[in-house]
Amino acid sequence: MTNILPDRTVEQDWFIKPIPNGVEWGDGCYFETAQIFRLYRSRQNPGLVFGTDCSCYSGCSFSIGREGKCTIGNYTLLNGALIMAEELIEIGNYCIISWNVGIADSDFHPIDPALRIQDAMAIAPYGENRPPRPPIATAPVRIKDNVWIGMGAVILKGVTIGENSVVAAGAIVTKDVPPNVVVAGNPAKIVKELEAPAK
Ligand SMILES: CC(C)(COP(=O)(O)OP(=O)(O)OC[C@H]1O[C@@H](n2cnc3c(N)ncnc32)[C@H](O)[C@@H]1OP(=O)(O)O)[C@@H](O)C(=O)NCCC(=O)NCCS
Repeated sequence: MTNILPDRTVEQDWFIKPIPNGVEWGDGCYFETAQIFRLYRSRQNPGLVFGTDCSCYSGCSFSIGREGKCTIGNYTLLNGALIMAEELIEIGNYCIISWNVGIADSDFHPIDPALRIQDAMAIAPYGENRPPRPPIATAPVRIKDNVWIGMGAVILKGVTIGENSVVAAGAIVTKDVPPNVVVAGNPAKIVKELEAPAK
């Protein structure tokens, strides 16, 4: 069962474009609208892969860059998350990613002031003599199985969040989170230990 039609459009969608080639999904997936893929630009094939039984609601945005890739496991729900992958973002099985969560594997712009001027000129919408964009570092983000990320949390480049852990609403995660904990705050710190489910 799915609400995605054979021509890759979404049933009764107001957004008329189909889901881009390079996006793959398994049985039982639900996408509220194909608009969530409007920022998809990956040249990887596939560049975005969902397992089975995932749901993605209309506030989501999958901004997958030209070299970027994102994989999502089974039974994962994304409700209004912004996923920005220039290299690799992996999200596991049974995850819940809440409203206004941001997950990014790059900072997208350089820290160095001179390079930021070059970058600002490079990304200007028009003009023939624009400089090239300066190189920008990327580092994969890995969200393991059964992770719950609360409203408005931000997960920054290079972070791995361990199995069963919870990121509290509004947390800014800058470093790895071990399995079976709750983290909260800015920068996120462990506030609680959790018992792992019996296998
Ligand atoms: C993560 C969460 C579920 C944890 O709930 P909990 O286990 O009842 O946590 P507690 O209230 O016992 O908090 C434990 C500690 O963390 C702190 N804390 C909890 N959430 C926090 C947050 N979002 N930011 C900062 N600190 C937080 C508490 O103040 C407490 O600190 P203390 O021990 O110094 O008193 C909850 O804090 C949360 O973020 N809820 C929102 C979930 C959400 O976004 N749902 C939307 C639908 S997916």
